[in-house]
Amino acid sequence: MTFNSLILYWFDENRRNLPWRNQNDPYKIWLSEIILQQTRVAQGTDYYLRFVETFPTVQNLAEASEQEVLRLWQGLGYYSRARNLHFSAQYIHHELNDTFPSDFESLLKLKGVGEYTAAAIASISFNQAVPALDGNAFRVYSRYFDIHMDTSSSKTKKYFFSLGKEIIDKSRPGDFNQAVMELGALICLPQNPNCAECPLNESCEALKNNTIHLLPIKSQKTKVRNRTFNFLEISDSTHYLMIKRTEKDVWQNLFTFPLIETAKDQSVENELNLLDAEFEKVYQEVHLLSHQKLTNVFWRTRVDTPRLKELAQELKATLYAEEEFDSLPLPRPIEKFLRKEY
Ligand code: ADE
Repeated sequence: MTFNSLILYWFDENRRNLPWRNQNDPYKIWLSEIILQQTRVAQGTDYYLRFVETFPTVQNLAEASEQEVLRLWQGLGYYSRARNLHFSAQYIHHELNDTFPSDFESLLKLKGVGEYTAAAIASISFNQAVPALDGNAFRVYSRYFDIHMDTSSSKTKKYFFSLGKEIIDKSRPGDFNQAVMELGALICLPQNPNCAECPLNESCEALKNNTIHLLPIKSQKTKVRNRTFNFLEISDSTHYLMIKRTEKDVWQNLFTFPLIETAKDQSVENELNLLDAEFEKVYQEVHLLSHQKLTNVFWRTRVDTPRLKELAQELKATLYAEEEFDSLPLPRPIEKFLRKEY
C-alpha cells in the first residue's frame, strides 16, 4: 500500500469529529484555520463555535466593528490574526460581493492568508491539490522520508512544497492534507511519537534508520525580547483610565490601563512621582509571548473625580466604568488583573 491509501484509510477511521469538519464552506474553513494557527484544537474549538455563532457569514463578520471582533478573539493571542481576518472579510464583502476567492493564488492575496492557509482552504473547500504545510506536516514528511534539511529555511520550504505537490492525493486533496496534520497531532508527536500505532510504520524511513528523535531539524531559535510594562490602575472608584494601543506593537487596538514601559534596571518611581498621586504596587507577573518576555507590574491609585479627569488629559486616556469593560478587547494580563486572578 502507498503513503496515500494508508494515511487516508487511517484518517477515515481515526479523524476527530471537530465542528469545522463535515462541511466545506470556505468562510468557516478559513476561520478555523486562522484560529488553529498557534492554538491547540482544545482551546480553538470554543472560539470557533462562538465566532460562527456570532458571525455565521463573511458578510456578518465584515459588518462587525474591529473592536467587537477583537473582543471575541480576547485571550487567543496573536491579535493581528483577528485584525487581518476582519480586514479580509471587509475586502471580500465590499470588493468581491461576498464571493470567497476559490483558488490558491487568489486566496494568497488576502491579508493574513499565507501559503499554509491558502492551501488548506483551496484543498478542503475547492478540491485543489495544493499541499498545506504546517508544523505537523513538516514533521510527518521530514520523518517519513528521513529528510535532514533545516525546516526554517525558505529553500527547504520550497522543497517540501514540491514534494507535497507530487504526493498529495489528487482525488481527495483536502482529506489528504488534514490526514497528514491529524497524524502529526495524534501519532507523530514531537516528543515520544506513538510509532507502534502509526499506519505508516512499515515504510517510515526515519523509523527504519532510527532518526525519529532528530527530526524535524529546526535551526532557528526565536530570540526573546525582555520588556517591563508598568500598568497604572487609576480610578475614582467608579471610573478607570484606559488607553487604546494604536501603535504597531503588541496588542495593537486592544485596551489597557495607562502604561509606562521602563528599560532594564530603570525605575518607574520618578515617572510615577511626576503624576502627583500615591501609587501602591499591587503585584507583578511574567507573561510570555512568542518573541517577548513581559514583566508586568501593576500599580494602583485612588483619586477624586476632578483629578481623574485631569489625569485622563495628561495621559491621553479615557474614563470607563467597570461595566463597560465587557465590551473592550483586553490583553490577558489586564483581564486577569480585573478578575483578581492574582
Ligand atoms: N491543524 C490545523 N488545521 C487542521 C486541520 N484542518 N486538520 C487537522 N489539524 C489541523
